Amino acid sequence: MEYEQLINEIKEKYTNLGENPETYLKGLLQSKPITYWDYIQVDTLLSLQKTRTDFKDEAIFVMYHQVTELTLKMMLHEIKQLSEGENLSEEIWMNKLDRLKRYTRMLITSFDIMKDGMSYEDYNIFRDALTPASGFQCASFRYLELYTTRLPNLINNAGQKRLPENPTLDDYFENIYWKDAGLDRKTGKMTTTLRLFIEKYEADFKHLAKIVQGKTLEERIEQMENPSEELKEKLKQFDHFYNVAWPIVHLETAQYFLDSKGEEKTATGGSEWKKYLHPKYQQRKFFPNLWTAEEVEHWGEK
Ligand code: HEM
Repeated sequence: MEYEQLINEIKEKYTNLGENPETYLKGLLQSKPITYWDYIQVDTLLSLQKTRTDFKDEAIFVMYHQVTELTLKMMLHEIKQLSEGENLSEEIWMNKLDRLKRYTRMLITSFDIMKDGMSYEDYNIFRDALTPASGFQCASFRYLELYTTRLPNLINNAGQKRLPENPTLDDYFENIYWKDAGLDRKTGKMTTTLRLFIEKYEADFKHLAKIVQGKTLEERIEQMENPSEELKEKLKQFDHFYNVAWPIVHLETAQYFLDSKGEEKTATGGSEWKKYLHPKYQQRKFFPNLWTAEEVEHWGEK
C-alpha cells in the first residue's frame, strides 16, 4: 500500500470513529515496540506450573496436563469454526479434519513422554496430594464432545435403556456416559470428584448442548449435499483416533501406574476406572452413522 494511501486510511478510520487521527499517530510514534514475551504472554504462561509436593516429576505431570488443555483448546477452536460456519466447502472441512487428526495424534504419541520417565513410586505418593482432583474433571474434553456429536451419542447402551420416551435435555444429562464414573444410580450418591465437576460445569454443558443443536459436526455433515468418501474417511479416522486410540493409551498409562504391580489402586477420581475408561465400555462415537453395524459391535477391540 502506498504511504499516502495508508495515512489517508488511518485518517478516515479515526475520523469515522469521531476521534482525532493526529492523536493516534502521535501515540504510535511514542509506543514501545512489541516483544515476543508480551505478545505470547510468556511470563504469565510460565508462572502457572504450581506443584503441591517436591517430587521432580510432579512438574512434568502438571505441564503435560496443561499441554493437553492447550491442545484441546486448539481443537475446539477448529471445531467451533466448522460448527458455526454454514455451507463451508469440502476443502475447509478436509483442512480442519487433517488438523484435528494431527492434534489427536500428538496427544496419542506424546503420552509416553510423561509416562516413561515418571517413577511409579513417586507418582503414587504425590498423587495423594491432588486427590480428589482427576483428569476426569477436564471440561474441554466434554465441550469438544458436545460440539462434535449429538447428545444421544453420549449415552451408552445401558443408558439408552434407562431413557424415558421423548427424553428431555435433562434426561440425557442424567444418563450421559461420563456419570458412570462416579454416580451410584441406585442410591443417587456421587463421588466428590463428580459432584464438584457437576456443580462447576453442568449448567454450562446444558446451555451449550441446547444452543449447538443442529450445528454439531455430525449434523453439519448430514446437512452437506454430497460429502465425498474421502471426507467420510477422515471423519472416521478422527473418531477412531479420539475415541479409541487416545483412550487406550490413557488407559494403559492408568494401568501402569495403578495396577502394574497387582495393587489395583483406587484412582484419584474414585471411578471403577478399568471398566469405565475402556472405549468398549464407553461406546463413545462422534459419527456412529459412518460405521457399519459390525464395526460398532467391535468398537474398542484391538
Ligand atoms: C499418570 C497419569 C494418569 C493416570 C494414572 C490417569 C488416570 C485416570 C483415571 C483412573 C481416570 C478415571 C477417573 C478417575 O477415577 O479418576 C481418568 C480420567 C480422565 N483423565 Fe486421566 N490419567 C492420567 C493422565 C491424564 C492426562 C495427562 C490427561 C490429560 C488432560 C488426562 C485426562 C483425563 C480425562 C479427560 C479423563 C476422563 C476420560 C473420560 O471420561 O472418558 N489424564 N484418568
